[in-house]
Amino acid sequence: MYNSGDGRLVGVPFADAYVDSAFDKADFGLRAAPRVGSYAGFVFASLSSDVESLEDHLGGVRRYLDLLIDSSPDRQLNVVDKGSLKYMVPANWKIQAENVLDGYHGPYTHETALKMDAESWNIPDGYVASFPHGHGAVNLILPETVELPDAEKFRALAQMPGGSDERGGALNISGLRGMSDQIKREYFVALVESHGPERAAEVLGAAGMTIYVFPNLYIQPLNQHYRVFRPIAADQTEAEIVAYRLCGASEAWEQTMLMKVNGWATALGFGQPEDVEVFASIQEALQARSVEWLDFSRGLHRERLVDGAVTASFDDETCMRGLHEEWLRLMSKEVV
Ligand SMILES: [Fe+2]
Repeated sequence: MYNSGDGRLVGVPFADAYVDSAFDKADFGLRAAPRVGSYAGFVFASLSSDVESLEDHLGGVRRYLDLLIDSSPDRQLNVVDKGSLKYMVPANWKIQAENVLDGYHGPYTHETALKMDAESWNIPDGYVASFPHGHGAVNLILPETVELPDAEKFRALAQMPGGSDERGGALNISGLRGMSDQIKREYFVALVESHGPERAAEVLGAAGMTIYVFPNLYIQPLNQHYRVFRPIAADQTEAEIVAYRLCGASEAWEQTMLMKVNGWATALGFGQPEDVEVFASIQEALQARSVEWLDFSRGLHRERLVDGAVTASFDDETCMRGLHEEWLRLMSKEVV
């Protein structure tokens, strides 16, 4: 048993068997991580002291973490204190990481689930952004028109990407599927009042985003939760799902989001069980000796460098290439 505060070993079963032994609990405490830092409320640790600062490591993906925090009217996320959901994925951890960076599979693997979540379903538009150090973001722009209660008040919001007040005050909002218009209006009002119309518009323009922080953190604001992946073996990964609340959002918003998490990311949901089924199939297929290389070339021809990030269409494999390049860079380093 370890002290949860400092990691000291404070107890072992049947300790009296160590009388006159060299065994000393002080020698068997948990090893302290030499580098620990936090950003946007997430705590990151490195078991190597030979790493750059957390801010440098995160680099361009910080902009997306800032948008995540600002999606809360009070600029704070609170973890839902009902515990987390853990499950084992019978596949290598990189398959889970590739999956969260992939917009290509969504309309096909999750066609049924997505149709249940909206009256009409369209193939999404959007983009991927791959950052140095393997991080990535996917922003799905899902067309959805919302009638505004006060067109004048939201005129500035209509300038957001995808929005247009030429449609009589209607606003095109990405990613807030499955929400009633009333719940959305309350959320928009809270955001505008808290952050001002310009920042609120930026936040809403990114409402269809998901964020991946290399190697093992994934955040999905569309269904308010984050996941941490833990490699257990070459073909086994533990995934932990934690739901969060947006402080300052209405209770109706939070209840709807909890329903969305349950409907997507749990064993009784539709989204993640479909993905895990595919992960197992991919892991099995990777045992084939007849195919030596996997093809990750999708969208290579249309990549662009924008503000230090490599971007391409939402369905391109740009972020997967970034993930594997970073993994190869780290695994090729000399071990000291
Ligand atoms: Fe998926």
